[in-house]
This record gives sequence, structure tokens and C-alpha cells, in this order.
Amino acid sequence: MSLRYDFSYDGGGRGKGGLGALFVNGRKVAEGRIDRTLPFVRAKAVELLRAPYASREAASREIGAALDAYYRSAYPDVARDAAKAIVQAAEQIRAIYLRNVFPSMNLTWGTHPNHVGHADQKGCFRCHDGQHVAADGRTITDDCSACHTILAQEEEAPKILADLGIGG
Ligand code: HEC
Ligand code: HEC
Repeated sequence: MSLRYDFSYDGGGRGKGGLGALFVNGRKVAEGRIDRTLPFVRAKAVELLRAPYASREAASREIGAALDAYYRSAYPDVARDAAKAIVQAAEQIRAIYLRNVFPSMNLTWGTHPNHVGHADQKGCFRCHDGQHVAADGRTITDDCSACHTILAQEEEAPKILADLGIGG
């Protein structure tokens, strides 16, 4: 299996947005566009994903209007200069909502947290915390190397990045 992630940068200096796409065996499986330069776009997106709506259709209609209204009132110059980015972000938030939230099934944003890894939730560490002890004294391991092969840590310019051709 081959995994590839392409990021087409918008350019024009640092911190700009771009289009990210994930490919498995050359087939595109995911693509997303939310401009990182929009102030507080992530927080606002999560708020809109969590908000109650009368129906999925209502959510689909209201998310774009709410994002637009937010920037108009909180950041009028952003609303003016980045109108296209706001529309694109709203499309992505709407798509994320429609993929994940089904109020009639009581399935709202956050009903099923992602337990892969341990970044946003405890995830694997729910058990792999070294605190779960069996009768014979063995614990469920919290040793990083049980799950990760650490190639470099806190190095200025890790050789592995240069070897892979992705170092700066
Ligand atoms: C029981 C397995 C397991 C153990 C033990 C474990 N990890 Fe992880 N870790 C994972 C998985 C799974 C992911 C998510 C990988 C992914 O999303 O592709 C992850 C992700 C990460 C990430 C990326 C976080 C991110 O923001 O996406 C870091 C950094 C990390 N681990 C560090 C550590 C360190 C340091 C330790 C030891 C203290 C550790 N891990 C122990 C399974 C483990
Ligand atoms: C519900 C509890 C639980 C969760 C959650 C859990 N594990 Fe485990 N895991 C175990 C148990 C129990 C073992 C077996 C420990 C043993 O036999 O010593 C184990 C063993 C492992 C081992 C083998 C470790 C070794 O050194 O032999 C790996 C690798 C592993 N888990 C990865 C993961 C990853 C990755 C996640 C998160 C995506 C995860 N586990 C989440 C309970 C859990």
C-alpha cells in the first residue's frame, strides 16, 4: 500500500492556506480546504458543528450564513478581503457536518470521539497508561516504542528528513 499526502500551497509568504489531499495507492480519498489565515476559523467551525439545528437541511443552509455573519461583524476587513476563503471554509464545514452529524439518530458532533492516537483524547492511553495492572503484576505498556519507531527527537536538523528529501 502507498500513502501520499499532497499539499498545494497558495504561496505568497508563510502561513497561507492551501489544498491538502490524501492519496491511498494513487487514489484520492480525502481533500480539504479551510484557509488557516481566517481568524479563529477552527474555533468557529467547531462551534458551528456543535450548534443545534432544526434538521440537516437547516444546518446545511445556516452554517454558511452564520460563518459569513461572524466575519462581517467581528472582522469586517477579513469579510471584505477574504470573501472567497470564507465561502470555501463554509463549504468544508457544511460537508464535515453532513458527513458526521445525524441529529435524528442522536449522533451529534463529538458523540464518538476519535480514539486513534492520544493527541486530542486519551485514545490508546485509556489503557496504555502503565496503570492497568494484571494479577501477575504486568501492566499494559505505556512505552512509546511499543507503538512508535522514533527516528529523531529534539534535533535541530534531523538527518532522516534530509534522507527522505523533506528537510529544509
Ligand atoms: C499504545 C500505542 C501508543 C503508545 C504507547 C504511544 N503512542 Fe503515540 N501515537 C499512537 C497512535 C496510534 C498515534 C496516532 C497515529 C496517527 O494518527 O497516524 C500516535 C500519535 C503520536 C504523536 C503525534 C500526535 C499528533 O499530534 O498527531 C506523537 C508526537 C506521539 N504519538 C508521541 C508519543 C510518545 C512521546 C509516547 C510515549 C510517551 C507515545 N506516543 C506512546 C500510539 C501510541
Ligand atoms: C481497552 C484497552 C486498550 C486500548 C484502548 C488499547 N489497547 Fe493496546 N493493548 C491492550 C492490552 C490489554 C494489550 C496486551 C498487553 C499485554 O499482553 O501485555 C495491548 C497490547 C498492545 C500492543 C502490543 C504491545 C506489546 O509490547 O506487546 C500494541 C502495539 C497496542 N496494544 C497498540 C494499541 C494502540 C495503537 C491503541 C490505540 C489505537 C491501543 N493499543 C489501545 C489494551 C488496549
